[in-house]
Amino acid sequence: MPRIAYVNGRYVDHRDAAVHVEDRGYQFADGVYEVVHLFRNRLIDADPHLDRLGHSLVELQMAWPMHRSALKVAMHEIVRRNRFATGLLYIQVTRGVAPRDHKFPADVCSSLVMTLRSVPEFPDDMREQGVGVITLEDIRWARRDIKSVALLPNVLGKQAAAEANVYEAWLVDGAGLITEGTSSNAWIISGDGVLITRAADHDILRGITRQAIVELAQELGIPFEERSFSVEEACNACEAFMSNSSHFVTPVTRIDDRVIANGKPGSLSTALHSRYVQYMSDFSKIG
Ligand code: PDD
Repeated sequence: MPRIAYVNGRYVDHRDAAVHVEDRGYQFADGVYEVVHLFRNRLIDADPHLDRLGHSLVELQMAWPMHRSALKVAMHEIVRRNRFATGLLYIQVTRGVAPRDHKFPADVCSSLVMTLRSVPEFPDDMREQGVGVITLEDIRWARRDIKSVALLPNVLGKQAAAEANVYEAWLVDGAGLITEGTSSNAWIISGDGVLITRAADHDILRGITRQAIVELAQELGIPFEERSFSVEEACNACEAFMSNSSHFVTPVTRIDDRVIANGKPGSLSTALHSRYVQYMSDFSKIG
């Protein structure tokens, strides 16, 4: 079965999927993206992802590449053509192809690329053992609410984490407060059982998984506080975890060289993960 990608109106073999060298995404990182989980044949939270894509496009004065409803049809079509049940759908919109010039080109059409990659279901060892993170200075720009493809600081952070043999880097602002991970939101649970994550303003990406977790926590009766926390507070927390569309709720058991609580995934993180998996299973299957 060949892998199928979508490039500007055409479904093509993934090996042949290519864009023009003067695509502004390639030359200026002038583009935005979304990653949507395909879980057992269900596209999870497709609408909130499209809402956030709309936010990113508006903030960058970029046009939708097609009507939102048509994009949704194309998302389902690429799933249908790839014929696997669990994977990650990558959607990228750039300002389009134009001779290299920093200012916006006139009369340009946005480019749309979509790929789907098969991934295994959430690995048991991540849930059972948790992961480690390092902390790094957050050197990103001031509009992290826009899901821009300009990810160089995130790439450098993730590489530093890999070199330190841990899974993620948590980024720290000038006041010593954790913003988020390089590709995930950061959470802690305090000694008195309060779930805490940073407010979603311009400093972090408003995670779609984050939003679902807030609602599921409410349903489970877990008290929730939206506020910033320091590295020190995180190291002394009862539990810590990260969230994103690719790995849901992932327990964090070590920050730099400090072990969180007893070094094992906590009960609330585990409960939230299970509830999130149930939440995904409740989406209707793609026909
Ligand atoms: N990243 N913060 C950052 C910086 C992210 O890149 C992501 C997601 C998140 C979590 O958002 P969500 O819950 O909507 O996935 C938070 C994706 C998965 C990526 O870049 O691959």
